[in-house]
Parts: sequence; C-alpha cells; structure tokens
Amino acid sequence: MEGINFNQIGVSFKGSGSYVPKQILTNHKISDKVDTSDEWIKSRTGISQRRIAGLEENVTQMGYKAAMSAIQMAKWDVETIDLIVLATSTPNDLFGSAPAIQAKLCANNAVAFDLTAACSGFLFALITASQFLKGGSYKRAIVIGADQMSSYVDWNDRRSCILFGDGAGAIAIEATNEFDNLIGFNMRTDGQRGSFLNLPSKNKKDSIIDKIEYSSGGFSPVQMNGQEVYKFAVREVPLIIKDLFKKVNYNSDKVDWLLLHQANQRILDSVGDKLKFSKEKILSNLQNYGNTSAGTIPLMIDEAIRNNTIKQNDIIATSGFGAGLSWGAALIQWG
Ligand code: ACO
Repeated sequence: MEGINFNQIGVSFKGSGSYVPKQILTNHKISDKVDTSDEWIKSRTGISQRRIAGLEENVTQMGYKAAMSAIQMAKWDVETIDLIVLATSTPNDLFGSAPAIQAKLCANNAVAFDLTAACSGFLFALITASQFLKGGSYKRAIVIGADQMSSYVDWNDRRSCILFGDGAGAIAIEATNEFDNLIGFNMRTDGQRGSFLNLPSKNKKDSIIDKIEYSSGGFSPVQMNGQEVYKFAVREVPLIIKDLFKKVNYNSDKVDWLLLHQANQRILDSVGDKLKFSKEKILSNLQNYGNTSAGTIPLMIDEAIRNNTIKQNDIIATSGFGAGLSWGAALIQWG
C-alpha cells in the first residue's frame, strides 16, 4: 500500500474462479443413509447431487484453487494483490484460514482475513473489500467464498443433510477512478431470529483446577428450522432487492441476471416471481452442488462467466441470505 488514493471512486470486476471437490454424493446415495428419496429431494429443493470434500480437501485448499483461477483470469501478478477476504463459516483453522491461502498464493504484499456471515458471507465480503478499494487504501483485492458444510451437518438428519455441499468461488476486483461497477448494495441482520439456523458451539463443562471452570471447545452440527428459514428468504429477499432498485433507480427490466444464494430452487422461483424476473434470467446451478454456503454466489458467477452466459457489462442483481439471520443484496456490472 502506497498511501491513500482519493481518486479511486469505484471497483471493476476482473476475474473469477471456482473449485469443487471431486467426490459426488447423489440423492440416490443419500437415500442409503437416511429415509429420503431422489424424488423428494428434487421436488422440494431442486438438488440432484452435491460435492463432498475428501480427506485432503478443506477450505484453505478449495479457497486457494478458486482464488488462483480468478487471479489467472485477471492476469495479475500475485505480488500486486493488496487484500484477500475469505468468507467462510467453516475455516480449517478457527484463527482464520485466509492467511494460509495468502501463503499458498505467495501473495506476499496482501493482508488476508476471514469474515463470517454464513450464506451471506460472500456478499458481505465483496462489499467490505470494495470499501477498502473505494476508500483509496488498496488497489487490488481477491474475495473468496468457501465452505465445507459436510464437516458440520448431521448426516442422520434428513431435514438438513440433503441441502448442503462443499465448494469455493472467488473474484478479483480492482479500484478504478472512472466508474463504479458495484452500483449499489444493502445489508441486513436480525439476531432476534438467529435461532432458526445455527452451528453452535458445544459447551462441555470442565474444570482447570478446583473452582475454576471452563467450557471446552467444539461445535454441534447444523440446527435448522427449515420452514422458518424458507419463509424468511421468500419474504425478505424480494424486499431488500426492491429497496436496492429504488435506491439506485433500477428495475428488473434493466437487469440481465438474478443471481441468488443457491439454497432451494423453490426459493429462487418464488423470489424471481415476486420481482417479475422471467425464468431465463434466474441463474441456477444448485442441482449439481446443493447449498455450498458462502461458496454459492462466486461459484455460480464463475460458471456463468466461463460458459459465456454472463457477458462483459451485463448487470447482475445478487442476494445472499442465511444464518444470523443475515441477508443482503448488490447490483453489479460485470467488467
Ligand atoms: N426426505 C423425505 N421426507 C422429508 C425430508 C427428506 N429429506 N425432510 C423432511 N421430510 C418430511 C418431514 O419429516 C415432513 O414429514 P411430516 O409431515 O410427516 O412431518 C415433510 O417431509 C415436510 O417437511 P417440511 O420440513 O415441511 O418440508 P419443506 O417442504 O419445508 O422442505 C426444506 C424442507 C427443503 C428444508 C425447506 O424448508 C427449505 O429449503 N428451507 C430453507 C432451508 C435453507 O435454505 N437453509 C439454508 C439457509 S442458508 C445458510 O445460511 C446456511
């Protein structure tokens, strides 16, 4: 960092990358473990299969691969990266996995840290990193969303285990003094409704010495009230996107793509209907990956960039939502 550059007014999107583990867990295979069926899962969620990180894979390794491929698309020298923000709820080091990704990338001039906001994490990280760029402190940033939910779901709970998968995505953003391709954003949290979805610490009471007690660390599996999370998503997501459109004077006609957190196809369809987006404009890949938490939005962006669905200068309305409860929206122009 060379000091503050007050001429930097916006960000541009320079590259994307993603990584998914090789192991595929189909609905049929899950049916061998819990009392469910391919038909039930597909009709209630749209999911057909998900990827599961193997013993050699974790958030650092998936995040690194996604980041490296975004850097290659951007054609950046790793030494020019100033900032790496990793959105994750499942780091393989609770002190933070972002510095380990920085080390693997050899991005020696970057500062790297984790940010946790569950399935809204990538969006919150994108907005956070953008503030450093628009504020003039940094020029180039990598924003990563990566999660390994398979380590934290209860594989005996058919109401939740069918939803999640592992994966990572990343994007490369750069400060510019000409335009701002992060056109606008909104962020919200409501801790009052936090109990609908948790990955809580498991408190095991122990004592260090006589009369000094402590709770040993660890986590319980994901606990979810699926119906309440569903109702929250289909109510709040259209509202926050509508509010954003109003703020920046946009409507769905001016937007090329609706890219929502990939939780459930029924949520995507319902939000799309409420916002009057035609089906062709709603990006979806959850049938192949399930809900990869902070990974879904950049994973979807990367797939759509690489198969030429999202093109240079396309306008994308995106929204993340999930535990916290947390939710947010951003309007971006790719390029
Ligand atoms: N297979 C077969 N039957 C099932 C399964 C399953 N996998 N899961 C539940 N059922 C049964 C239930 O036991 C229930 O049976 P009952 O009526 O005899 O009790 C019946 O199906 C209906 O259950 P519901 O929970 O009402 O099913 P619903 O239609 O709500 O679908 C689902 C459940 C898919 C979980 C839905 O509520 C949902 O997608 N919610 C949103 C969850 C979500 O997106 N969470 C992640 C948020 S992002 C983040 O931050 C991590």
